[in-house]
Amino acid sequence: MKRNILITGGAGFIGSHVVRLFVNNYPEYKIVNFDKLTYAGNLENLKDIENKPNYVFVKGDICDIDLVIKTIKELNIDSIIHLAAESHVDRSITDPFTFAQTNVMGTLSLLQAAKEIWKDNYEGKLFYHISTDEVYGSLGEEGFFTETTPYDPKSPYSAAKASSDHFVRAFNNTFGLPIVVSNCSNNYGPNQFPEKLIPLFINNILNSKPLPVYGKGENVRDWLYVVDHAKAIDAIFHNGKVGETYNIGGFNEWKNIDLIKVICRAMDKKLGRPDGTSETLITYVTDRAGHDHRYAIDASKINKELGWVPSLQFEEGIELTINWYFNNKLWIEGVTSGQYQNYYNSMYEGR
Ligand code: NAD
Ligand code: DAU
Repeated sequence: MKRNILITGGAGFIGSHVVRLFVNNYPEYKIVNFDKLTYAGNLENLKDIENKPNYVFVKGDICDIDLVIKTIKELNIDSIIHLAAESHVDRSITDPFTFAQTNVMGTLSLLQAAKEIWKDNYEGKLFYHISTDEVYGSLGEEGFFTETTPYDPKSPYSAAKASSDHFVRAFNNTFGLPIVVSNCSNNYGPNQFPEKLIPLFINNILNSKPLPVYGKGENVRDWLYVVDHAKAIDAIFHNGKVGETYNIGGFNEWKNIDLIKVICRAMDKKLGRPDGTSETLITYVTDRAGHDHRYAIDASKINKELGWVPSLQFEEGIELTINWYFNNKLWIEGVTSGQYQNYYNSMYEGR
């Protein structure tokens, strides 16, 4: 079946990998990338596919419901894969209003537009909402998040994402809008903005800058290579059951400090520096306020129902990621100049 898919946030980190996968794998689909191009959105991420005949870019804000309605109508959109969001937890601590605006009101604007335009015939329509494992809160040393774990968001970012998830399910329950939701663990890979742990530390090692480890570095995250997340989204979009939720994870838990040491060793090797050089950059700084201790996903549902498993081992994924940042220093320079640099200074000043 031919589809006309609106992908929001397609110029961001995960969105750009999703757009590339759909544009390349489904030449018969029309893929419309709808993105505001905030500090996190970068069209350079999509240079390799920007001239493909099945790709269209629309610059716009998901909160602008008139533009959303116009785009859905004019481009005959039948499906939405919604990734646009403010995504960085530290920024949500300094600026929670922007997170409520984009993540909650922006999602509501998309839902309302889709419902109004599609309500006479929901056949062949789908609103696919991309969410995060952070909505489930924080785990102790044991246990995993499943699809039935009660919501318990603890940061302004996760509170806004949780709220958006509730609105998506409410539109399914109240108006019958066909929806599907997935909640994924931490992603890493090419094109991730260097404010998140892995690209920030790779970039700082390249520039011999301190590596700011929050608290004692004992928090645990479950890391998934971004292309494997894009493949899971493909599987859910095509074969997921309407109304359902799917958890996506890497089966790959790391304590921050252990992960950081792996990166340090790999970078020393790559840069031809003596073993142990990068570890001397490790600097323990004041902990993130309300820092969630551990996230870990039980991804057995998507595995059993849709046959998805991560295709890459972490060792391969981290090597690909480090190589990408080495080969794309101009990309890093571009995104770390100007506005981002000011933000970076304000975030780390006094820590
Ligand atoms: P990102 O910050 O790299 O990209 C976000 C994109 O959304 C950017 O291109 C930005 O320009 C766009 N955007 C922001 N506000 C917008 C608005 N008002 N209108 C239109 N576009 C707007 O984010 P990411 O890390 O790629 O995350 C994408 C999605 O996946 C988010 O919904 C996030 O909550 C979710 N998620 C992320 C991770 C992760 O580890 N990064 C894990 C699980 C889920
Ligand atoms: O779990 C999914 C979530 O993962 C996504 O929903 C978010 O969009 C994404 O940003 C990510 O959130 P985290 O807060 O887990 O990712 P971040 O890269 O910011 O931090 C990872 C861990 O590293 C976390 O325990 C905080 C720590 N950290 C982070 C930074 C930026 C540091 O110790 N120092 C740092 O400078």
